[in-house]
Amino acid sequence: MDSAQNPKFLSSHLFFAFLLVSSNLLTIFISTSFNSSCTLNQQTNAPSTVLTKPTPKYETIQESDTTQTDQNLPSELLAFTSPQKLPRGFNKNFDSDEIMPPIGRPCTLFQDLLHRYMSYNVNGSCPDDELLAQKLLLKGCEPLPRRRCHPVAPQEYVEPYPFPESLWRTPSDFSVVWTAFTCKNYDCLVNRAKTQRGFDDCKDCFDLNGRERSRWTAKNGAGLDFSIDEVLAVTKAGTIRIGLDIGGGVATFAVRMRERNVTIVTTSMNLNGPFNSFIASRGVIPLYVSISQRLPFFDNTLDIVHSMHVLSNWIPKTLLHFFLFDIYRVLRPGGLFWLDHFFCVGEQLEKQYAPLIDSIGFNKVKWIVGRKLDRGPELNEMYLSALLMKPLKNSWSNYNDAESCSTSSSIVSKGNFVVYTTDQKRFVVPLAYLQHEVIRQLLHMSEEEFGLPCDGPITLPCDALFMNYIVSLIERGVGADLQNALLVSVNSSQCSSALYLQEQRNLQLLVC
Ligand SMILES: *[C@@H]1O[C@H](CO)[C@@H](O)[C@H](O)[C@H]1NC(C)=O
Ligand SMILES: *[C@@H]1O[C@H](CO)[C@@H](O)[C@H](O)[C@H]1NC(C)=O
Ligand SMILES: *[C@@H]1O[C@H](CO)[C@@H](O)[C@H](O)[C@H]1NC(C)=O
Repeated sequence: MDSAQNPKFLSSHLFFAFLLVSSNLLTIFISTSFNSSCTLNQQTNAPSTVLTKPTPKYETIQESDTTQTDQNLPSELLAFTSPQKLPRGFNKNFDSDEIMPPIGRPCTLFQDLLHRYMSYNVNGSCPDDELLAQKLLLKGCEPLPRRRCHPVAPQEYVEPYPFPESLWRTPSDFSVVWTAFTCKNYDCLVNRAKTQRGFDDCKDCFDLNGRERSRWTAKNGAGLDFSIDEVLAVTKAGTIRIGLDIGGGVATFAVRMRERNVTIVTTSMNLNGPFNSFIASRGVIPLYVSISQRLPFFDNTLDIVHSMHVLSNWIPKTLLHFFLFDIYRVLRPGGLFWLDHFFCVGEQLEKQYAPLIDSIGFNKVKWIVGRKLDRGPELNEMYLSALLMKPLKNSWSNYNDAESCSTSSSIVSKGNFVVYTTDQKRFVVPLAYLQHEVIRQLLHMSEEEFGLPCDGPITLPCDALFMNYIVSLIERGVGADLQNALLVSVNSSQCSSALYLQEQRNLQLLVC
């Protein structure tokens, strides 16, 4: 609200924001190559149990169960991923009598990494291999397989500060396993913006007395920088209660929200910094999932999703499209999606990203486009900050209402039309079924009984059980005799399932 009044701050903000973004983007690429060399060091540095062949004290897979490819896989991987019989037999919820524990489909593409990751002593200590694990995960092996070993932990673990002191106090160095990182303590991380050359993800964000302090606070709220309070004021007080921050650095967003009694889960990788440990030490929730992973929340549940700098033009467009739909999915109707400093190059915004974002179906509450001038105006670099709201009323159900004015407009996808049964079950039926006398007769009866609906879908004068039966008959190919028998029953009786049960015996006689 009072945010758009300080345009003179804009350029300096853009500059800082650029620093942050460029560091984000580059680190992703750098860290990938960086990791590989580090992982090799790791192997030689860690004399523990890394490469020793596991002694299968536990139940492992029978040799005969393994296929040609499986034989190349570590035994612990097979032990974890193989179908496991449920001790109590068939389970209705699972619709199965066995469980197949999941790993990311690409896991097996990286046999070498996977071998190293799954080679350990069962019931012993896990190798100190955070870099390896993250590399595997970022390549698409997500979720990683579970392991049966104890993770490395600090020798003399120091507990976090009590809440709320923990929110803004740098935790003890003894709360972190530092092996995977260039810095070996928090001093190094806090000062790395000043002392280190080159890029790092969120380079200065471990410094809680630096720029982190003022993020999303009112006095900064100008132009592309919305303040948390101005965003919360968009909806009725207290209705934003739970949410997600995607790629949230050290979770200062979650901390600021926590101070306003809003619970935010922060996804973060550990890109050359112990982001997850740090977030947890602050007393907010870290979630270790990459941007590729389906969000582990149910549909229509979250009040707010925020993401700063992470969703940008470095993400492949198809992946971004899926991602935006996933955000839409987990937001409840009326929930907010705060797209904070989406970065791209001018033409891209107009031609690709704005239409892409538009197409998801959010309502726009705020939409601010700013030019990023720090590297020169000729580059035409752009930021977009947007506040989007998931509509309270589903756009697809509106669409359904509008489409059903006549039979022809009930076509949902090429070659199909939609009908409802008297018990309100929805059927998508191929147009080709119209050539069947039974379907035609049912439509005819529907018209006579209910009229051609202009404000709702077509309802057939029968219930779902009967409709399923008819569809199954048509799919199997009904003979003329059976068709006639069906028609008689349809004609004579509004085809309830009671009749169908009664008729079924007669029909079966006809079938046999
Ligand atoms: C696993 O290791 C612990 C010690 O770390 C030991 O007490 C326990 O008996 C072991 N369990 C099995 C099943 O070997
Ligand atoms: C947060 O909740 C506590 C306890 O319910 C309350 O005392 C406090 O005023 C709330 N803070 C804000 C900013 O709403
Ligand atoms: C069904 O009823 C219609 C009239 O409502 C009639 O024209 C048609 O012949 C009947 N079909 C059968 C198989 O009885």
